[in-house]
Amino acid sequence: MFKIIHAQFIAPGIKRFVLEAPRIARKQKPGQFVILRIYEEGERIPVTIENSDPERGTISIVVQSAGKTTHLLNSLNTGDQILDVVGPLGKPSEIEKFGTVVVVGGGVGTAMAYPSAAAFKRAGNRVISIVGARTKELVILEQELREVSDAVMITTDDGSYADKGFVTDKLRQLIQNGTRIDLVLAIGPIVMMRAVAELTRKENIRTVVSLNPIMIDGTGMCGGCRVLIDNKSEFACVDGPEFDAHKVNFDVLVQRNGMYRDAEQRSLADYQRSTAEKTAAHETEDSCAIAHRGER
Ligand code: NAD
Ligand code: FES
Repeated sequence: MFKIIHAQFIAPGIKRFVLEAPRIARKQKPGQFVILRIYEEGERIPVTIENSDPERGTISIVVQSAGKTTHLLNSLNTGDQILDVVGPLGKPSEIEKFGTVVVVGGGVGTAMAYPSAAAFKRAGNRVISIVGARTKELVILEQELREVSDAVMITTDDGSYADKGFVTDKLRQLIQNGTRIDLVLAIGPIVMMRAVAELTRKENIRTVVSLNPIMIDGTGMCGGCRVLIDNKSEFACVDGPEFDAHKVNFDVLVQRNGMYRDAEQRSLADYQRSTAEKTAAHETEDSCAIAHRGER
């Protein structure tokens, strides 16, 4: 069992957990992730490691409520426990002195981009971070990124904070202004990573994306996370999750990630229905108890 030392929402639907996981904390490197299971029959889900503290023996993860399991996870609180947390998994980010590195974080993908941005900075790079979110409340880790970046650019889709637009608008501006860019790391929704790849391909800028296909065992055995890279099958859990963006077949990734969408939606609807029923039952019990007290 893995104890939750601290749990807090950092944006609507996005929660940060600090977990007691000393072995993972000692080994974790930027770019890696964990696979966790909340209870025995529960599904296994890959989750971004945002940070680790080897001295305290803790890792922090950031989870966005999307399907049943992430909703269930985000209902847990400080002091609760998670059945298993396996990791660190995947190859770490390739960190060296490239020159100027642009780190692009889209939505909750920013949590995975942050440790890499910090590592690029420690390695002596000039780091420009671009963060995009749908709206002001969903911008995460802005302060943390400012501390490890030479410049931070923020966009919101609705213009409720910083500049209205997508992360790719900022990247395009940098390219058009003639900023020398030696490497781009982009982590976020698939549409964003694909758009970044298309932009940098034309400019011949080396670009890395972190892929998030469906994962089950995380050991290269089940084949769940198969992705097509340069027309060859690779497994994101052991060969990635980071790949050369210009070699990724994004169509296959979109298609495979959508395979279980109907089942996922049904499972989420069932979970939400049963949670609503439990809440209603509790409220009925509470009002009966109050009525009984009133009778005495
Ligand atoms: P989102 O849909 O709110 O998008 C975040 C940002 O991406 C937007 O604000 C915008 O700047 C950019 N973006 C979106 N569509 C774009 C487009 N067509 N062109 C250019 N830029 C675009 O993101 P979200 O709701 O936070 O979802 C995050 C997604 O990231 C989830 O799908 C999750 O699975 C994924 N994720 C990926 C990783 C990873 O390793 N790649 C890690 C965590 C989460
Ligand atoms: Fe099973 Fe990668 S998750 S092969």
